Amino acid sequence: AKIVVLISGNGSNLQAIIDSTETGKIAGDVVAVISNKSSAFGLQRASNHNIATHIVDHTQYDSRESYDAELANTIEQYKPDVVVLAGFMRILTAGFVDQFTGRLINIHPSLLPKYQGLNTHQRAIDAGDTEHGCSVHYVNEQLDGGPVILQAKVPVFEDDTADTLAERVHVQEHMIYPLVVKWLCEKRLRLQSDGVYLDDLLL
Ligand code: GRF
Repeated sequence: AKIVVLISGNGSNLQAIIDSTETGKIAGDVVAVISNKSSAFGLQRASNHNIATHIVDHTQYDSRESYDAELANTIEQYKPDVVVLAGFMRILTAGFVDQFTGRLINIHPSLLPKYQGLNTHQRAIDAGDTEHGCSVHYVNEQLDGGPVILQAKVPVFEDDTADTLAERVHVQEHMIYPLVVKWLCEKRLRLQSDGVYLDDLLL
């Protein structure tokens, strides 16, 4: 299976996915990494593994529609089976989302539907939550609102800061995201109008 990953920053989730393809846990290859920012460290990670990189810089486009059209063209040239948002900090248009429905996933650092949007770790602490976590979900038109595929929970400790909590969540992100990409590459997931279905023995 062919995987395209979209990033804006560090790319630690990208790294976890690349590593899982290289060890054969994922039956697929990351064929391209696309960033909206030229400074994203994840581009370096991709180059280190001889993966094609593209920068599609949003500041060069005058509308979301024109940006997303170029983004979609860049992705489609690889004919990917799976399109992975891994810290890609852009809101996508409905047209873009429609084009990739069923093969477009995101990871969000909260137990969705809680804490859509930014600053999730601080918000969980401020609310006094005793557990927090991350969610891998299909992307739809609603920001962080698509059907959840898999979540991981972590405890929140009294002395946690947003940074210590984020670190604990990140460890889990790096486990569940490659797992869901693996399932998608093996076509073991189905997105239906009433939710997500897992097919077959999953592990
Ligand atoms: C992760 O926390 C992810 O949940 C969020 O953006 C962050 C990306 O981190 N969507 P990285 O670039 O993969 O290190």
